[in-house]
Amino acid sequence: MLKKNKSIKLLNYYKLINHNLIYNNKPINRYKKENYEISKDKVKKLELLKKEILNIKNCNLKKQAKNIVFSDGNPKSKIMLIGEAPGANEDQEGLPFVGRAGQLLDKMLSAIDLDRKKVYISNIVNYRPPENRKPTNEEIKRYLPFITKHIEIINPKIIVLLGSTAMNALIGNEVVISKMRGKWIERKFGNCKASLIITFHPAFLMRQPAQKKMAWIDLKMIRDKNNNLNI
Ligand code: URA
Repeated sequence: MLKKNKSIKLLNYYKLINHNLIYNNKPINRYKKENYEISKDKVKKLELLKKEILNIKNCNLKKQAKNIVFSDGNPKSKIMLIGEAPGANEDQEGLPFVGRAGQLLDKMLSAIDLDRKKVYISNIVNYRPPENRKPTNEEIKRYLPFITKHIEIINPKIIVLLGSTAMNALIGNEVVISKMRGKWIERKFGNCKASLIITFHPAFLMRQPAQKKMAWIDLKMIRDKNNNLNI
């Protein structure tokens, strides 16, 4: 009897101190496994996406290009930049923004203490259009599911659209860059929720250097947003 009373008291005590929350005999995993697993998963998803693009059939862009231009930079970055399409240098090297426009992009990034290794860079289409023409609406439509998936996998907090082709592909055809640049827009791509900003394409800035002052305003907005994310 005494024994039974004692165990009831003990049980009540355990209830009182919420024993289940305090005591758990499962070992605690102190390795940062989660972080590692997430990036391993990302790598796998990116590889799969690249394979899907490599398997595209009956695509004129792919037929005439030398290489796929998938991406460059850090897949863990919070900032993803999206351009239009690879040019001759990019096609040759299989990397985005490595030609003259790329050199200007590197300078623009370094002006706000970023470089291409700290951000993630891709394009709306992954193969060079012949003679560096703009990708057609049909081509953009074909590649849109890939860049959307790409964004979802990278899951950036900040998306920078470089130029009107990227803007029209991801925001819609009814908007114009002169009105849309330099504003933050909240957007969702699947589970990815990001602040998106549109700025001028570096190739456009090479033709219209007077617009660089507007691009500088956009760059400072990106720098400030990124600094706030790091707080
Ligand atoms: N212009 C783009 O839009 N993308 C590149 O990769 C290079 C030039």
